[in-house]
Amino acid sequence: MKKINSLKSMFTQSQNWHAEKKTIALVPTMGALHEGHLSLIRSAKNKADKVIVSIFVNPMQFGPNEDYDNYPRTLSEDIKKCRKAGVDVVFSPSVAGMYPDNASTWVNEEVLSQYLCGARRKGHFRGVCTVVLKLFMICSPDIAIFGQKDAQQSIIIKRMVRDLNIPVKIIIAPIKREKDGLAISSRNKYLLPEERKQAAVIYKGLQEIKNWKKNNLSVAQIRRKLIRFIQKEKDIRIDYISIVDINTLSEVSRPNKGDKLLIAIAVFFNKARLIDNIEIKW
Ligand code: PAF
Repeated sequence: MKKINSLKSMFTQSQNWHAEKKTIALVPTMGALHEGHLSLIRSAKNKADKVIVSIFVNPMQFGPNEDYDNYPRTLSEDIKKCRKAGVDVVFSPSVAGMYPDNASTWVNEEVLSQYLCGARRKGHFRGVCTVVLKLFMICSPDIAIFGQKDAQQSIIIKRMVRDLNIPVKIIIAPIKREKDGLAISSRNKYLLPEERKQAAVIYKGLQEIKNWKKNNLSVAQIRRKLIRFIQKEKDIRIDYISIVDINTLSEVSRPNKGDKLLIAIAVFFNKARLIDNIEIKW
């Protein structure tokens, strides 16, 4: 396995692989790799000849009061995990390499980014789209794999790829969960043991929805029930719970039978912000 920091070397490596007719899969990450990332890597290995894992904590997607400085950075452990998982290249560029001092060009998806996390984290998806497009230009993958846990991110990246005619196939891999259902996330590390126990309520609540739906409750009733269910845990603070159309990400009140909905949730435990979601057919 190669470790590459330089953008130019990464670009050259990818071009060499293309010249050898090898297909390339990219798994973009911010490091602190866990089972969720490893499942993306396994999927990448099944789908392409060469696998690149990028590890870059992207400052441009964090707001001024968010956790950029504290975000877990575990590069040497990440490298070991990648080696064991059969990754071909770990690409870990520097911030200065990725963003020249006078960088002034950004990628802004303007509609889907208005909702859910985008409404609370101003500029977040501008940072995500910009870095992902840059990674695509540097690594020139044939496919790129993202996790369903960041459902809005996945939908926005697919939109960006379509809108800008980017020749990369986007694959979304299912959420990996702990035994009690909590979605695996690098940010779970922030939770105190007591908070960690309480966090199981997020997925339990999402699963209850199927039962509530059977009882013919309306979208508004289901949302209220979910809020109450989650608020049973004392240290949890709901950032948002939204029931949205999967295509537009806008809130729905009276969906038609068969409509695909995304139920997305973001909560805080103290400063730790966790997200989760499920998709349902109405
Ligand atoms: O999902 C993430 O870890 C990040 O948002 C991504 C896609 C690697 C961009 O920095």
